[in-house]
Amino acid sequence: MTKKTYSRRGFLVKSAIGGTALAALGSFGLILHKDQTWVESEPYKRLSTSPAGTAVVVYSRSGNTLVAAKEFARLQDADLFIIKAPEYPQTFSGQMKASGDASDKKMNTEIIHPPIDISPYDPVVLCSPVWWYRPAVPMWAFINNHEFSQQSVFLLMTGNSGYETSYIEEFAELVRARNGRFTGFRFIERGRAFWQLSSSELRDEVRILVDSHPEFVSKGA
Ligand SMILES: Cc1cc2nc3c(=O)[nH]c(=O)nc-3n(C[C@H](O)[C@H](O)[C@H](O)COP(=O)(O)O)c2cc1C
Repeated sequence: MTKKTYSRRGFLVKSAIGGTALAALGSFGLILHKDQTWVESEPYKRLSTSPAGTAVVVYSRSGNTLVAAKEFARLQDADLFIIKAPEYPQTFSGQMKASGDASDKKMNTEIIHPPIDISPYDPVVLCSPVWWYRPAVPMWAFINNHEFSQQSVFLLMTGNSGYETSYIEEFAELVRARNGRFTGFRFIERGRAFWQLSSSELRDEVRILVDSHPEFVSKGA
């Protein structure tokens, strides 16, 4: 009797461990799959013809931050500049490289984008995914390659779960070293593998952000 109870408990424990391991594996697989799947969004086109006051600069590896950046640009009637980073393609090895470089806290990588004359814009809004609790490596590279002239610089990040404030402060220091005035940041949490914001919910979050905190993006904030 005792033996039977023991083995049933053993079976339950093993099942629970097996189930948890399977769930963890499934969620890891889903994250890998999502990071390798591009999220489509409508092309962005500025409607007005007067020169834009705001520049939105975005790096996005799987399309989500681009959704947010386009919405931000639309609400602010901004010019949108898209950065590409060839070292981090949407492949498994690209993902491993992104992961390795981010955890090594790299601040530089090759980036490709149309020439950007930052000087006429104020504010400059930077949009980046979070990689290992900090802005993604290509956004650091962008700052390293540019010089500001005391414009406001605002950082918008998307991520699954979280960021680390000390890394944002380090990023802000880099902006200041390049003569920009770092005015703040916001993080949009998309949620983990199974419960993530849809693109339309992500746009809603951007609208809430812009409506409720105009000071973050206004000139001279
Ligand atoms: C290498 C790597 C590391 C990541 N680290 C984090 C993290 O520390 N915190 C977080 O919230 N999300 C993290 N994520 C998830 C992305 O930030 C999130 O999916 C983001 O919204 C993707 O944006 P994108 O589609 O524009 O590339 C990481 C993703 C990758 C590829």
